[in-house]
Amino acid sequence: MASLHTLTLLLISTNLHLFGASSSNSNGYDDFLECLTDQFHRSNSPTDTIYTPQNATYATLLPSHNPRLASVLPRRPDLIVTPFHVSEIQASIHCSRVLNLQIRVKSGGHDYEGLSYASASAPFVIVDMRNFRSVSIDEKAKTARVEVGTTLGQLYYTISRTSKTLAFPSGVCPTVGVGGHFSGGGYGMITRKHGLALDHIVDAKLINTDGEILDRKSMGEDLFWAIRGGGGSSFGIVLEFTVTLASVPETVTVFNVTRMLEENATELVDKWQHIADKVDENLLLRLFLSPTNSPATGNITVAASFTSMYLGGARDLLPIMEEQFPELGLTEDDCKEMSWVESVLFFANLDDQPLDVLLDRTPAGSFYFKGKSDYVSAPIPVNGLREIWNFLMEGERSSLQLQLQFSPYGGVLNTYSDHETPFPHRRGNIFMIHYSVGWFNLNESEAGIRWIRGLYGYMARHVTQNPRAAYFNYRDLDIGRNNDAGNTSYDQASVWGLKYFKNNFKRLVRVKTKFDPSNFFRNEQSIPVLGM
Ligand code: FDA
Repeated sequence: MASLHTLTLLLISTNLHLFGASSSNSNGYDDFLECLTDQFHRSNSPTDTIYTPQNATYATLLPSHNPRLASVLPRRPDLIVTPFHVSEIQASIHCSRVLNLQIRVKSGGHDYEGLSYASASAPFVIVDMRNFRSVSIDEKAKTARVEVGTTLGQLYYTISRTSKTLAFPSGVCPTVGVGGHFSGGGYGMITRKHGLALDHIVDAKLINTDGEILDRKSMGEDLFWAIRGGGGSSFGIVLEFTVTLASVPETVTVFNVTRMLEENATELVDKWQHIADKVDENLLLRLFLSPTNSPATGNITVAASFTSMYLGGARDLLPIMEEQFPELGLTEDDCKEMSWVESVLFFANLDDQPLDVLLDRTPAGSFYFKGKSDYVSAPIPVNGLREIWNFLMEGERSSLQLQLQFSPYGGVLNTYSDHETPFPHRRGNIFMIHYSVGWFNLNESEAGIRWIRGLYGYMARHVTQNPRAAYFNYRDLDIGRNNDAGNTSYDQASVWGLKYFKNNFKRLVRVKTKFDPSNFFRNEQSIPVLGM
């Protein structure tokens, strides 16, 4: 990518005077195309980065890994821009403002409800950041500058080519994009020791509604605070983040131990709830629960898989497990020692692949999917766990793909105050629940959605309340939405805003009102502007 500075100057000298103009004399995409082509011409940008539905490439730019979204948010963009240069992003913002069109920003395209590439009804254009994907690592300073179109896999790969003892605490799926992931959270297998991705952001570059490029200093601490957990999409288009890297030992240990109900899984999960947030912070014991056929009895049962990461060797891990969780019966044979980046492959189920598989940007497979989240602050009683097993086994009979993930909190997450960043789920949470249901045929959609909503309804008695919290990066339109992505009132938006951000929602609204008073950057679940 050419230097931001050069391109900014180029733009300033050619067409910046047009920013700030806002009239709605037309809503035609021909006008938008004409405006964009004109702007591109002025800044010497190639026009083959603009795709209309008539273009064969258009469909390939839209994520297709979750066909459920075709019915949730049926409207697709009338135009996709895949900029290489900042001036092209500025031109897209300018033309959208002049012609009163919404913009959706897409980095990795993994939004659970497709908000980066679809809308319920509002016409819009996509700015697809896939070409902004350079990563530069400063090994000495232990920092990285990461453009938003980078995938987590590319980031992990690049770090590993530089150092064996540097790492980054973010998600497990390598095809997730930095733009959405970092600005909304970023939980991964070293989070109990090193926090979330957003906890590591020390600087950012963002383009605002006026097309100005702001860094931390020029945007100020309020806006910088907001884009570290409040999501980028309500505030502007983030270009890049500068993050601190985490130091890890050369050898880490992973294991995946599975126990069925007939192997005391219920008692193990019960015990897990009492220790998962308290064990040594180098240890992250993640728990996956899914229905399966028991190899022993042939009957439907529940498999509890303790999928874990320890920042150190097996010799140090085994005594910790023996002391804290002897019931699991972890043995040396269960443990695998490896480098941190090999553990990335292990947790992504790619351990039989070469390292450069991390550079693959295409999500594996396509299936109907719905996810939801909850937070747990007091252990779920054993009879509650049994009720959850019934939901899982019931679903198994209908051939849905069901899974619950219990992701432990505690560790360093407890050291941040709830308002240090917009991400409020800190001290007091034992674990986060991720509910997921998948299916392969359209005619299973009703059963899939009914199942997940049924379980979520049941779980109300076991999870945090007032508000019932949710993880912003596991976006869920069930918890509230504005259908036409228009101007949402504070009260309407607080229905979902308080769940994602708790008391930080109010500050997010104030920041939004100050920095985007015309509510240009908006979607079905964006932060509202006061007084609209
Ligand atoms: P996408 O491009 O769809 O963007 C998501 C949101 O961010 C949209 O609202 C979009 O407009 C906005 N946005 C994106 N780029 C922006 C930019 N440059 N400027 C402003 N706004 C921008 N989470 C987790 O914490 N740990 C995990 O392990 C996983 N694993 C995982 C696996 C899979 C298969 C999926 C589908 C998702 C996850 N997630 C996750 C959730 C993930 O963190 C979440 O969906 C992120 O928002 C995805 O970011 P993308 O950039 O890929 O999405």
